[in-house]
Amino acid sequence: MKIVRTVSELRGIVRQARTNGSALIGLVPTMGALHDGHLSLVHAARRDCGFVIMSIFVNPKQFTEAADLEGYPRQEAADTALADAAGVDVVFAPDASELYPDGFATTVHVTGPLTQTLEAAGRGPEHFDGVATVVSKLLIAAGADAAFFGQKDAQQVLVVRRMVADLGIPTDIVACPTVRDSDGLAKSSRNVRLSGADRAQAVAIPRALEAVEAALALGETGTDALHSRATTVLTAAGITPEYVAFVDARTLLPATDIAEPVLCAIAARVGSVRLIDNTLLTLPDTIEEN
Ligand code: PAF
Repeated sequence: MKIVRTVSELRGIVRQARTNGSALIGLVPTMGALHDGHLSLVHAARRDCGFVIMSIFVNPKQFTEAADLEGYPRQEAADTALADAAGVDVVFAPDASELYPDGFATTVHVTGPLTQTLEAAGRGPEHFDGVATVVSKLLIAAGADAAFFGQKDAQQVLVVRRMVADLGIPTDIVACPTVRDSDGLAKSSRNVRLSGADRAQAVAIPRALEAVEAALALGETGTDALHSRATTVLTAAGITPEYVAFVDARTLLPATDIAEPVLCAIAARVGSVRLIDNTLLTLPDTIEEN
């Protein structure tokens, strides 16, 4: 596995891979601190593509708090070893000056509810500008046929899909299922910052999503009622959520019942760590038929 730091080196390697007959080029964009969630994206990319690139870049433009950016775990040697073992062909790990050289003056901004709801409040309005800007740069640099993202960041997937459609970037955006620990907590690079007690408390987040799914399976389709199922579980665990939201899974506009696929999304701070999780709700067949 190669590690490259410049866009021109990356382009050379991709050109060579295409010349060697690699049918499809896959990109797994990451900020490092790899866990099983990232590795599942590599496995999906390996399955679909002949050549797999992983980018590792802690993107300063998507952080609104300096402390969050500084505290973000950085472990390149461990990450590249994991990437190699998972079957990545090349890691692209640029410095900030490679992606944002002096004079850099372009922002990719997706307008509308996709960037104004859910995470917009907690992470700040610039967050999705930073994501759209860096992802467009990475997709163009890699010339990727497909790029792989985790469904845990469901809003990010929608923003990136909108961005590639609007800019005509010829990359398929593939959303892969959330990977969870055995107790249900969604894998996240931030989980390492949870203390033992916080870790136990955080499990209430997937439990709240499960309570919503269970109530829906029993025929409860009103989002107000489902909302109180989730908040009951969170409150019992001592968690005050930033939001428990029920939104149309394609537009992120508020949903009042589960007629169309609805995303139930939760954000909550546990200790000093902000966690997000979600589940996609669709009407069970038996309810739909009645
Ligand atoms: O999901 C992430 O890790 C980041 O938002 C991404 C997509 C790598 C862009 O910096």
